[in-house]
Amino acid sequence: MNDLRANIGPLLDAGRPEEALRIIDAAVEESPRDLDLLTLRAVCLADLGQFEIALDVARALLSRDPDNAEARRLVTALEPTLAPPSFGPTNPLKRSYRSELPRDVLLRMQQALHHQQYRGVQMVKNPLDLMLYQRLVETVRPATIIEIGSKAGGSGLFFGDALVNLGIEGHVYSFDIVPVENVSHPNVTFTYGNGRHLDDVLDAGGIAALSRPLLVIEDADHSEETTGAVLAFFHQHLELGDWIVIEDGNLSDLHPEIYPEGNSGPHRALQAFFRNHADDYRIGAEYCDMYAYNGTSASNGFLERVTRPADA
Ligand SMILES: C[S@@+](CC[C@H](N)C(=O)[O-])C[C@H]1O[C@@H](n2cnc3c(N)ncnc32)[C@H](O)[C@@H]1O
Repeated sequence: MNDLRANIGPLLDAGRPEEALRIIDAAVEESPRDLDLLTLRAVCLADLGQFEIALDVARALLSRDPDNAEARRLVTALEPTLAPPSFGPTNPLKRSYRSELPRDVLLRMQQALHHQQYRGVQMVKNPLDLMLYQRLVETVRPATIIEIGSKAGGSGLFFGDALVNLGIEGHVYSFDIVPVENVSHPNVTFTYGNGRHLDDVLDAGGIAALSRPLLVIEDADHSEETTGAVLAFFHQHLELGDWIVIEDGNLSDLHPEIYPEGNSGPHRALQAFFRNHADDYRIGAEYCDMYAYNGTSASNGFLERVTRPADA
């Protein structure tokens, strides 16, 4: 063992943990019950960045020998980093509307996201939300995405590409009162539509014919009127397992002097909506709270329909 340590030490010091691991693995094959060897393996795995396996090995070693200092050091260092995120409640009436993210960080991100592009087109999306949407689309596999608020078209392109990249046969309909004209994607239709008057552009027969699941993204003017109108309109049409995301409620956190305590337009609209429909939706806390409690622009805004329209 001492010989082995003498060989391994310089390799680890020289930043060659993969070579060290090969030597250790060969030795473990010879002596699979040697706890010193297994400890060395855990250290080496951690050096390599194979943190999950290193933690498993270190935990197993500690359960056999609580005095194994090296294994304890690894467990103490790795457990907090690898702990799975914890999520808040999914009941819409049991959640605070505040975000855990500090206001100065939110403001800094808000400034930057007005200057970001996707494939050369402005896309005004919170960077955390981009990953949340990627996961949502991958999990729900929506066959239809309806976006209210296209702006320059960057987010429409992003969702069109997400469908293609994930092998989903789907289509994005992106509505705006100022429709996008100079951006195109085979899976995206940019067209005129006012969130306050969606009846004018989407008739009941047309919506019933859309492929499901449906994902609706409300990202228009963030007024209570528009958000409330979009929620009321789609509540008539969302089916079990469909989703609606209400963006930018976190204006309450960004500008508490203007919208104190959940008083942004989207938050007010959500609270009014849940007075009648709290049982029809679940907050997707696995999205809202993935990076921090309400660590998203869509605070309390990822909603999954959990009833059929006929039950509501
Ligand atoms: C926040 S931007 C959309 C950003 C875009 N989704 C993105 O991520 O890049 C808001 C857009 O909503 C549009 N808008 C404002 N009021 C609207 C309404 N009542 N109905 C539909 N679109 C509206 C504006 O013209 C603007 O382009």
